Amino acid sequence: MAATVPVRHYLQFADFDAKDYAYLLERSALLKAKFKRYETWHPLHDRTLAMIFEKNSTRTRLSFEAGIHQLGGHAVFLNTKDTQLGRGEPVEDAAQVISRMTDIIMIRTFGQDIIERFAANSRVPVINGLTNEYHPCQVLADIFTYVEHRQSIAGKTVAWVGDANNMAYTWIQAAEILGFQVHFSAPLGYQLRAEMLSPNAKQYLKVFDDPKAACEGADLVTTDVWTSMGYEAENQARLAAFKAWMVNQDLMAVAKPDALFMHCLPAHRGEEVSAEVIDGPQSVVWDEAENRLHVQKALMEYLLCGKL
Ligand code: CP
Ligand code: NVA
Repeated sequence: MAATVPVRHYLQFADFDAKDYAYLLERSALLKAKFKRYETWHPLHDRTLAMIFEKNSTRTRLSFEAGIHQLGGHAVFLNTKDTQLGRGEPVEDAAQVISRMTDIIMIRTFGQDIIERFAANSRVPVINGLTNEYHPCQVLADIFTYVEHRQSIAGKTVAWVGDANNMAYTWIQAAEILGFQVHFSAPLGYQLRAEMLSPNAKQYLKVFDDPKAACEGADLVTTDVWTSMGYEAENQARLAAFKAWMVNQDLMAVAKPDALFMHCLPAHRGEEVSAEVIDGPQSVVWDEAENRLHVQKALMEYLLCGKL
């Protein structure tokens, strides 16, 4: 079935502008309220979502699968191991075929180039469910969570303590679009790559050597695993290099007194975050995880039906 609106993909946070996000945040709140009331809402009746996973997942799979079901549609799970993708079928060919049989596609893969090639050959919207470079659905959920707890994120300061990974680059893109600051701190050798930053980066990104200095006055402190999927061979070196970059009570103490703590999960207590912080009163990690469901429902509805 063809989409009722022109095909748009969501491959990185920068694919949408501030107006799109204003709508999506409002719509996510409305869909969340409907869900909490057990109200049936089936705008995607009979639509099929293909979910392609080349890396592991708990939250992304569950939230997309439950989400399309709650909107009246159906999900098909595909992974590299069981499909011809794992036997070398070109991404372009897979995109042609999968997009002729389904209405919307979510992909979790390695390089951003893979999802871009896929999208270029897809007749239906493609959503990034995590690549090495970006994780836009997670940051959308995080910003929705921030707004739920503290209202607008515009003008606020987000401290990123840890690896220059897909989450960090997505937060940095979001800062430019939504008008907030990112304070970034990572050890030497694990810094941001200049070619991944926009020419305006200086306006909303500040890099700190000292993780504590990055957290000073922050409204939100966030981190992620030191070793992302696909980088497992570097794990030992990373454990040593990132030792002083654990978000603990010392770091939270210099942030604003009402600062929130976020982590996209899965987390490693005692590595990138201490148990007292992730399990403490400033942490909103369970809301963040739940909100994947609500924002992705809004996203799928928006990509297939436009504004309702
Ligand atoms: N945060 C996140 O994307 O979790 P999963 O890897 O479990 O999908
Ligand atoms: N940066 C992590 C996020 C996991 C949800 C990874 O890519 O493995």
